[in-house]
Amino acid sequence: MKALVASVLACASLLSFNQAAAAPIEIKFSHVVAENTPKGQMALKFKELAEAALPGEVEVKVYPNSQLFTDSTVLQAMQLGDVEMAAPSLSKFQKYTKKLQLFDLPFLFEDMEAVDRFQNSPEGQKLLKSMESKLLVGLGYLHNGMKQLTANDPILTPADISGKKYRIMTSDVLQAQFEAVQAIPLKKPFSEVFTLLQTKAIDGQENTWSNIYSKKFFEVQDYATETNHGLLDYMVVTSSEFWYGLEDDVRAKLQKAMDEAIAHGNAIAAQKSEEDKQKIIDSGKTEVSSITAEQREQWVNAMKPVWKMFEDEIGADLIEAALKSNK
Ligand code: SIN
Repeated sequence: MKALVASVLACASLLSFNQAAAAPIEIKFSHVVAENTPKGQMALKFKELAEAALPGEVEVKVYPNSQLFTDSTVLQAMQLGDVEMAAPSLSKFQKYTKKLQLFDLPFLFEDMEAVDRFQNSPEGQKLLKSMESKLLVGLGYLHNGMKQLTANDPILTPADISGKKYRIMTSDVLQAQFEAVQAIPLKKPFSEVFTLLQTKAIDGQENTWSNIYSKKFFEVQDYATETNHGLLDYMVVTSSEFWYGLEDDVRAKLQKAMDEAIAHGNAIAAQKSEEDKQKIIDSGKTEVSSITAEQREQWVNAMKPVWKMFEDEIGADLIEAALKSNK
């Protein structure tokens, strides 16, 4: 009898050991936007590809709409090991590196092709490793697109937003950019923007067509102007402890899945930028304007002095490399 009990216990413990050994690696991917956005779609594609490449070995759980962490908490949570992946906007890393402030400089990139060229250049690729001392590793860049301005009054020239309160991401460059046109910038998490606009606690905000559409900002703003004055792109990041703790072949398969998911997200970004702008126009809720070359010149002249203010922190060489990508 004793022998039988011992063998049952041995089998049970072997079974639970095997189950424990077979438990998939859990990757929590936290982001703040809706699922019908370039980032939302990229995260879901990554889940599909990663789980197909590593069946039973990896489980990716995607948390959209700030369900798990907000912009202001996700990177710290990652350092603590509470979340494995996120893709904050490049404007949200300034606590971890000053170099990425480059991407916030107004009117730096002429178009998304130039952004692509820079991000794929040796200088752009090196920036993915710029936060390793802070235990964060960049796995790739993802596009959203160029930013536009929205408000409850028409916006054509810098004078139109003078004295107005504008929500910005947590970036000192963006703060300086709005101060340069005498507006009042307020750093607020993305999750609060709709309510701030709806309650008129702020007058306006800057964002891409896809975020303005998917988060319904256009429903609570009467005007939008296509200024293309800055970039909103992302860096997909993970913690170095998690990433370098993986087996080499698992890491390689996850990187491949990520590269493909990013290509998918970038294709969606290009398409959505136009589609979502058109949906906003068609809604009739927001009047969408564009600016003339002369009005654009006024914005450039007012905002470009910001470059000089951040040149030392970013590095003149990096700004030069980015400018070269404009061709
Ligand atoms: C995002 O696209 O992830 C959010 C952008 C913002 O905070 O405005």
